[in-house]
Amino acid sequence: MKKFPDRFIWGAATSSYQIEGAWLQGGKGLSIWDAFCHTPGKIHQGQTGDVACDHYHRFREDVALMKAMGLQAYRFSIAWPRIQPLGYGKANAEGIAFYSALIDELLANGITPWVTLYHWDLPLALQLEKDGWLNPEMPALFRAYADLCFEHFGDRVKNWITFNEPWVAAILGYGQGVFAPGRTSNVEPYQAAHQLLLSHAQTVQLYRSKYREQNGRIGVANNCDWREPRTDSPADQDAAQRALEFFLGWFGDPVFLGDYPQVMRDRVKERLPVFTDRERDWLKGSADFFGLNHYTTMLAQDSRGAKISQEVYGNGGLSEDQEVQLSTDPFWQKTEMGWAIVPWGIRKLLHWIDARYAHPAIVITENGCACPDVVEEGAVHDPMRIAYLSSYLGEVYNALSAGVDVRGYFLWSLMDNFEWASGFSKRFGLHYVDFAAGARIVKDSAKWYSQVIRQNGID
Ligand code: GAL
Repeated sequence: MKKFPDRFIWGAATSSYQIEGAWLQGGKGLSIWDAFCHTPGKIHQGQTGDVACDHYHRFREDVALMKAMGLQAYRFSIAWPRIQPLGYGKANAEGIAFYSALIDELLANGITPWVTLYHWDLPLALQLEKDGWLNPEMPALFRAYADLCFEHFGDRVKNWITFNEPWVAAILGYGQGVFAPGRTSNVEPYQAAHQLLLSHAQTVQLYRSKYREQNGRIGVANNCDWREPRTDSPADQDAAQRALEFFLGWFGDPVFLGDYPQVMRDRVKERLPVFTDRERDWLKGSADFFGLNHYTTMLAQDSRGAKISQEVYGNGGLSEDQEVQLSTDPFWQKTEMGWAIVPWGIRKLLHWIDARYAHPAIVITENGCACPDVVEEGAVHDPMRIAYLSSYLGEVYNALSAGVDVRGYFLWSLMDNFEWASGFSKRFGLHYVDFAAGARIVKDSAKWYSQVIRQNGID
């Protein structure tokens, strides 16, 4: 039995747009994801999060599911347009009441809330009126929204995450255009990322000054896949390192070290914005823990001088700036997303973070997989998910044993939900959701995870 440290946090995660539904209820304004999903051709089969898991109406039932499985912590996100329908102005009382009731229900059931302030559902008005994350006014707007959240929920919420995966917001939203707001550019991702980072820094500054007595902690959840050199040639080893710096270093370096990686400065040149000294000071050290979302691994190959093939997922966007060709090993098993299952990748990435950022406290804010789940006589048997989770957790255990400071693990996801451009076609949940009827079914993996939590370890 691999025992995890005492007080290791076992949780599960979701996000507002993916589960809530009630898109036109409770005084909520529209978000860029509402608009994107209602644009023909953007989402698998034209599906939307209008109803999703109907969590807005079923949250008590969902908290009961968490309680039944012994979950210790629950990571969810607040939909900014529920708090401020237009992204600015006074708080919408119904939005405050909804999240307040959810938080109270969690606490009454002994579950610790971990709250993400932004999981991609930007108020649409800010996109239309301000051009979204490209606008330098965004940090002040985001900070004002966050202020409302700290004010109304901070007495009970002690764990905050400013942004979920700013890399995705920047690259998929402004580079590849496959996520809202659906723009394609090789300049805008760097500009959007810059405003996201400044918004993070300003918000942390606010939290640490104005809300110090709330005694909470705050960070950001960055995503990164592992990049393994395709061969042991120095060129491929450099390519893998470069790819990691362009991926995680882009956001991790400013937050922990105060500026973008030098390799990005050298290659992106004038398209990469510059921080002022004051901004660098605000950024450096602006996280109380290192939030990491991790799913998969790819091979990295130096592509200097060659044309980069866009066929492999994740290869598009700004890989030209990196001159890295990505690929996978044909022998690796894949999830329903087509993502390779490479458990040792998480261990190598944890060590990379540990070394680069001087041994930070790491919280794995997402990890999980999509499987071809089906209901059979009222049950869902998902051995592939259990295998994925236990192998990844085994490697987390190995990293812990080698001294990496991992504090907690949030499984993605509590339940099947709206998987962005893939709509409802990909199931990541510990609970199966019948989207037509709204019913939830406990999968085998939920029972397995509940035992992991009880034992504080894996067999
Ligand atoms: C993450 C994201 C989640 C979820 C997951 C699975 O990138 O934060 O919202 O969709 O991936 O694809």
